Amino acid sequence: MERLDKVLANLGYGTRKEVKALIKKKLVKIDGNTIKDPGMNIDPENCEIMVDDQVVKYRKYIYIMMNKPDGVVSATFDNYDETVIDILDPEYIAFNPFPVGRLDKDTVGLLLITNDGDLNHKLISPKWHVDKVYYAEINKPLDESDVKAFEKGIVLDDDYKCMPAKLEILKSDENGAEVNVTIQEGKFHQVKRMFQSVGKEVVYLKRIKFGALDLDETLPEGEYRELTEEELNNLTNIR
Ligand code: URA
Repeated sequence: MERLDKVLANLGYGTRKEVKALIKKKLVKIDGNTIKDPGMNIDPENCEIMVDDQVVKYRKYIYIMMNKPDGVVSATFDNYDETVIDILDPEYIAFNPFPVGRLDKDTVGLLLITNDGDLNHKLISPKWHVDKVYYAEINKPLDESDVKAFEKGIVLDDDYKCMPAKLEILKSDENGAEVNVTIQEGKFHQVKRMFQSVGKEVVYLKRIKFGALDLDETLPEGEYRELTEEELNNLTNIR
């Protein structure tokens, strides 16, 4: 059971004070009855809530796929930079969402944003071996020896030995290379540091897959949408 004013505030109907005002104006009904007490305890999953004659879609969690743009930080708050949460509509911000894992400020692509702490934990724990796939552009050509080095486990500048990673060379010539890299960890600047270990620089980095979730390439950078039910089911079906 939860307080009615809290439920509505969490669903984005305003601050508690604003919600109380809605209730005072007799705009809120539970199972067809007009409610006057903002502190009334309700079971939001098992009653019909109406605000201003519109049925309220109750949910506890939100799951958003964002195509993260360049220049925005993957955090809930930052003193200097715009965050991925700042981009969201207020209706989502009311759920207190946070990004699952981090992408660097200059990395673009697939970022999952949710308020589901359990799912977050599962997705970022190396124990579950969730694949993250990045498309990267590299400043120098690459060859089979780099693929082997990634497969063996790259040693980073702090002596950390990475888990085996898959490097797929899409294109390589004297101007540089285009690759897909699959990793299961999420160390700080991991992909960039892996390439530094083999003497190369990442010049463009975009995450294209996270577990079972593929970046929706129709989403322009900086845009987002909720996951479909199928996407969510596939993503949460982790073994
Ligand atoms: N690896 C990086 O170096 N940067 C990212 O943003 C993600 C993975």
